[in-house]
Amino acid sequence: MMQHYLQMKEEYSDCILFYRLGDFYELFFDDAKECSRVLELTLTGKACGLEERAPMCGVPFHAAEVYINKLAEAGYKVAICEQLEDPKDAKGIVKRGVIRVVTPGTNTNISEMDGSVNSFIVCILYSSDRFGLAIADVTTGEFSVAEIDDAVRLRDEMLRFSPKEIVCNEAMFMSGINVEELRQAQHIYVNALAPRYFDEEAGEKLIKEHFRVAHTDGLGLHDMPFALSAAGALLIYLYETQKNDLENITRINILNAGSYMLIDSSTRRNLELTCTLREKEKRGSLIWILDKTKTAMGARMLRQFLEQPLTDRKAIEERLDAVAELSERLMDRDEVREYLNTIYDIERLMGRVVFKTANPRDMIALRSSMSMLGPIKSILQGFSSKLIKRLADEIDTMQDMYELIEKALCDDPPITVHEGGIIREGYSKEADELRDIRSNGKEWLMKLESDTRESTGIKNLRIRSNKVFGYYFEVTNSYLSLVPDDFIRKQTLAGGERYTTAALQEMEDKIMNSEERLIALERALFTEVRDILAENIGRLQDTAKAVAYTDVLCSLSYVAEHENYVRPGINTKGVISIKGGRHPVVEKMIPGGSFVTNDVYLDKGENRISIITGPNMAGKSTYMRLTALIVLMAHIGSYVPCEIADISIVDRIFTRVGASDDLASGQSTFMVEMTEVSDILKSATSRSLLILDEIGRGT
Ligand SMILES: Nc1ncnc2c1ncn2[C@@H]1O[C@H](COP(=O)(O)OP(=O)(O)O)[C@@H](O)[C@H]1O
Ligand SMILES: [Mg+2]
Repeated sequence: MMQHYLQMKEEYSDCILFYRLGDFYELFFDDAKECSRVLELTLTGKACGLEERAPMCGVPFHAAEVYINKLAEAGYKVAICEQLEDPKDAKGIVKRGVIRVVTPGTNTNISEMDGSVNSFIVCILYSSDRFGLAIADVTTGEFSVAEIDDAVRLRDEMLRFSPKEIVCNEAMFMSGINVEELRQAQHIYVNALAPRYFDEEAGEKLIKEHFRVAHTDGLGLHDMPFALSAAGALLIYLYETQKNDLENITRINILNAGSYMLIDSSTRRNLELTCTLREKEKRGSLIWILDKTKTAMGARMLRQFLEQPLTDRKAIEERLDAVAELSERLMDRDEVREYLNTIYDIERLMGRVVFKTANPRDMIALRSSMSMLGPIKSILQGFSSKLIKRLADEIDTMQDMYELIEKALCDDPPITVHEGGIIREGYSKEADELRDIRSNGKEWLMKLESDTRESTGIKNLRIRSNKVFGYYFEVTNSYLSLVPDDFIRKQTLAGGERYTTAALQEMEDKIMNSEERLIALERALFTEVRDILAENIGRLQDTAKAVAYTDVLCSLSYVAEHENYVRPGINTKGVISIKGGRHPVVEKMIPGGSFVTNDVYLDKGENRISIITGPNMAGKSTYMRLTALIVLMAHIGSYVPCEIADISIVDRIFTRVGASDDLASGQSTFMVEMTEVSDILKSATSRSLLILDEIGRGT
């Protein structure tokens, strides 16, 4: 055993190896020492043939998820080595093998996850001054790629996804990206992959196989060799860690930098879009105000919207039209929100379905989510705005799948597939029969007994049973002459004989095994249903996206109503005009109604620049930020906190905050600030919005 352990450990040398021994996962040597510290486990020892005992610690297998999550959170990779056969059937040492590698960015343990946040892993390829970028969320099946040519842009693009883990080629460490900063400040687990992962041929082959296309052009990846390589490497890595077919990754999304507003990571931080600058909490951030979504999928999508505002006027107006119509038809909107309330995280549940880890309760959650699709669709069909009509079309009511689950599974099945009680009565003849036998076995035997008594004329014929011989007919000596030919002798006693018959034998087999067989059958039927569902993943993913989008639009409309926002006008003339602007977060933090509203006017002529001066605590920073926030909100299709707004399409928003305000980073020296401003001036265009707050004051 120890030999095999060491072999496995060598193969997975960069992982903590969870080695299954009976009811425990055991950890040895350095793994044990390290994890006993991180997981607060007791360190013991095991004789291993060496002079010293091997340090060892263990976790019970049924509680392992918690420990694995903790380790993944702490940046470890965990290889899970399972028993691949039942120890009862094993000859010699039980066969074991690694069934999954959990890494910080590929943890599929969704039970403990925050549903409103994606769990992304990023792969970066750096070569000849270009970057290929691939991004995936294994739990939802999202997979995106991009090709980018400078390090600053790459960093912004990537951090938008708040990845948990980055894998890259060795060259990436020489690309000018500050890897230590990513590790320390952003808490991302960064590791280089071996060159073989980036082998173009292997990567392309796998991509073609996985997405079932003859040529990668079919995926829109022509002229993107770096993105292709990164995608290939990431896919190989995911295959190797997940050890399954990743069936929920069904398409590649190409991130087209031009169609979104660019917000660099420090602007995102300064504007407190998803968490506050100082406490890093959601409370006090823009999303805290805007996120009134009902589903986890909607929450994730809203976050993505916030991180990639649109720059296409038509697309923005489309969203605003949809929000406007929802706000007009309040009853319909609230009814939809009511239905959304009971929709579970379809994307992640489907992830479990295709990874074959979905349990019966997950399927019931899917079923009840599906039951809401019809009602939502039919309400949306009554709308006239283009976007909502499209969403209504995209929602597949999944009637067939709903019926399948409804017919096949009980309403209240257990969590595991090991104890039966999953399959509904009437779904499978065989299962019903087995259930019948289990409950009616006695009656059947009595009937067989009386039938046989009659047909043979043996008046005192009895069916009995014992542990050694099972069921048998007992015939006393006085009736032996009446025993028919098809009786098979089992045992001779002093006072009589014991026989069996084909019919009795069959019944015995049925009764003795019915319980076991029923459980096995139910498991097989359950798996079958789950596999059918897995085949329909494309439909469900599209539907889930449409539901999420609906949720986001309803949330925007709800917030607009409750926070008293107005629909912004959108122009392309470079005019930003806000009357009675309010800061969406600050106005909620101070006593109601006490926020002093302010106007903003910027254009491309005389009012190209505004300089704000005033005493401490006058509200200068708040004023500037509210400008940026209102502009940004308009670009995601949200209503905005003011009386009237006319907002020009902006290609980038930059904000820089002087040292005194940016306590969090603690490293803002004059030099850093000036380099940053220089970077901004180099990349800003005539359509960019710049906000500089007390820059250069830290001299
Ligand atoms: N328009 C406003 N109405 C009411 N209170 C405000 C307004 N603007 C800012 N404040 C409050 O005043 C405080 C100081 O604002 P801040 O923008 O940081 O001032 P400055 O940058 O001028 O020092 C903030 O904490 C905020 O709560
Ligand atoms: Mg200030």
